Amino acid sequence: MANIVLVGAQWGDEGKGKIIDILSEKSDIIIRFQGGNNAGHTVVIGNEEFILHLIPSGILHSKKVCVIGNGVVVDPEALIEEIEMLKSRDIDVDSSLIISDQVHVIFPYHKLLDELRETKKGKAKIGTTKRGIGPCYGDKVSRCGIRLTELLNPEVLKEKLAFNIDEKNALMRTLYDHKGVSLDEIYGRYLEYGRRLSRYMQNVPLFLNKAISKGKSLLFEGAQGTFLDIDHGTYPYVTSSSATAGGACIGSGVGPIKIDKVIGVAKAYTTRVGEGPFPAEFAEEMMQKIRSKGKEFGATTGRPRRCGWLDVVLLKNASMINGLTELVLTKLDVLDDTDKIKVCVAYRHGNRIIKDFPSNMEVLENCRPVYEELPGWKENTSSISKYRSLPSKARRYISYISKFLKKRISMVSVGSERTQTLIRV
Ligand code: IMP
Repeated sequence: MANIVLVGAQWGDEGKGKIIDILSEKSDIIIRFQGGNNAGHTVVIGNEEFILHLIPSGILHSKKVCVIGNGVVVDPEALIEEIEMLKSRDIDVDSSLIISDQVHVIFPYHKLLDELRETKKGKAKIGTTKRGIGPCYGDKVSRCGIRLTELLNPEVLKEKLAFNIDEKNALMRTLYDHKGVSLDEIYGRYLEYGRRLSRYMQNVPLFLNKAISKGKSLLFEGAQGTFLDIDHGTYPYVTSSSATAGGACIGSGVGPIKIDKVIGVAKAYTTRVGEGPFPAEFAEEMMQKIRSKGKEFGATTGRPRRCGWLDVVLLKNASMINGLTELVLTKLDVLDDTDKIKVCVAYRHGNRIIKDFPSNMEVLENCRPVYEELPGWKENTSSISKYRSLPSKARRYISYISKFLKKRISMVSVGSERTQTLIRV
């Protein structure tokens, strides 16, 4: 089997969890390579629903190795909670989970700073998940971050924590009128987290490269999506990690020539959570309709997602940046009742028509969508089990997208169950 990278082609929440779950069956090792517990991957198996924030969805299959790569930031408290939740539902975590000893650790001051900064920004806020993601990656890049392995070394941990807490407390007191955090409380608690997580820690690049040389197949599970990527997303309304395909190599220690396929996942329409430009956003009535039919509320924060028409200008850019080899379309069934379906095929900026996604976010903020309209199929697709049984107008919609992007659409999802997936051979 090939080594596959799977990424979100929009602003996250594309329904990647279910697709990863399906692809996991044919992979030996599933790897998270970026982000943290800001992500929420929902997988439905029979009557059971699992929401995973940090551990790869592959954990729900027996005999798979699940890896948290060096590019991830880990809140140990949230990770331990997730491990316990899975164990209480009879999932074998201990023999399946490996965590890179190089991951950076989220501390209480990261979460606090995330919250304080967002509050102070007021209207200019990013709309973060307040999980401390940005401040933790900030420390990593500023070279004062603390890696998971350092929780096992009391002297090093104390020294680094003392430096960081001094600095953060000064910032919190002067800028945010907050008393700050206590070294003693955090130090003891995090030493204990280190002890509890030590059994999972490994040299992940070494483990993965040895596995490749033994012929094992790897599935890299992207979190968030292309337009939340720190470099290629709608900056500054992005997350702080590399959510595009290149991030899989950086965040795991596997070289690019070892990757065989890059699969992009896109919803049949578009959503985003938090602030930032969104040219094809619906007007209120359609927003309410699709939000409620598509259950468009964040799996991590419960926030209502902003919804809009499918934007193929955006997808064309995602295809280019990630080097997509194919696309998976999810939640097609959510459009079942729609009379006429619009697709955003270009943007109008002043009196110019733009066909490529702009790199200048000020331009994007002022873009108006240019739509093409396709007929809706007005039939229930959620119980269809073969691609060729889809209504012809639904197939026309899919083939329109495929032709525009010049990409094969290899799977179409029509519901949250594993069985509601139409695989095109
Ligand atoms: P942060 O990652 O918490 O810093 O949030 C930065 C931006 O990314 C905000 O707009 C969040 O709503 C968005 N975001 C982060 N994680 C996810 C996700 O898993 N799905 C969708 N949006 C996300």
